[in-house]
Amino acid sequence: MRLENKVAIITGAGGDIGRATALRFAEEGCRIAVADIREEAGAHTVDLIKENGGQAFFVRTDVTSPEDIENMVNVTIDTFGKLDILFNNAGVNIDESKIPDVSLSDWQRVMDINLNGVFLGMKYAIPKMESGSAIVNTASIAGIKGQKLLSAYTASKSSVIALTKAASTEFGRENIRVNAIAPGVIDTDMVEDWKNSNKWSALSTANALRRVGKATEIANAVLFLSSDEASFITGETLIIDGGTLNL
Ligand SMILES: NC(=O)c1ccc[n+]([C@@H]2O[C@H](COP(=O)([O-])OP(=O)(O)OC[C@H]3O[C@@H](n4cnc5c(N)ncnc54)[C@H](O)[C@@H]3O)[C@@H](O)[C@H]2O)c1
Repeated sequence: MRLENKVAIITGAGGDIGRATALRFAEEGCRIAVADIREEAGAHTVDLIKENGGQAFFVRTDVTSPEDIENMVNVTIDTFGKLDILFNNAGVNIDESKIPDVSLSDWQRVMDINLNGVFLGMKYAIPKMESGSAIVNTASIAGIKGQKLLSAYTASKSSVIALTKAASTEFGRENIRVNAIAPGVIDTDMVEDWKNSNKWSALSTANALRRVGKATEIANAVLFLSSDEASFITGETLIIDGGTLNL
């Protein structure tokens, strides 16, 4: 098994990509702390892992809260004895609008969750991690190309890529690897509104593979980056977009 005896924290693990990754990790022998702000959704992920014979527990965590994040790390170590993998995956988007129409509170909320949440996760987890540990932060292709009408989201995800590079250089000597993923459009709750609009058919064909991605396809990439198979990869952002950025 590719993550045998490993322990992971996955934030946003009540959501689609987080849940798919938690299930995939558990299949590979990893014990999981399922962290999310939504209790019911997180508990459901734990139930699914246990039904498949895996080990997991839920820890309610608001990634914008330093106290919650510190607790998430401490409870994981109390429960499973160590921490090998952190997947900083919790994130939100807001409705499309031009910059003058973005409220400061919306801007700050997106930054708080998508960027500060990643910072806080690393701030509290890294001191508890040992040589061989791995962190994966969730960016987006929006953070690479600069997506119109999604300025806050774009800025937060672009910053995640830069923060990932900075962290990888700070902790390389300790053999703690830090990478990011940049998904394209993935069929999850986050894009539910787009599914009911005429935008969906355009999005579905806006890449080389001419379809949207699946949460399981992100999970497999995160599995690779988190495993020892990626032992010489750090500071990278893996684009998983079906070829969107090449069109
Ligand atoms: N779906 C896509 O097309 C897509 C594309 C690129 C990047 N992403 C990124 O993937 C990640 C996962 O998103 P998803 O598509 O699975 O969406 P999702 O909405 O299904 O999952 C997001 C999860 O984050 C949790 N969350 C939100 N705010 C939180 C907070 N303050 N504290 C803790 N948890 C919180 C939600 O409860 C939810 O379970 C996000 O970072 C998102 O930006 C998604």
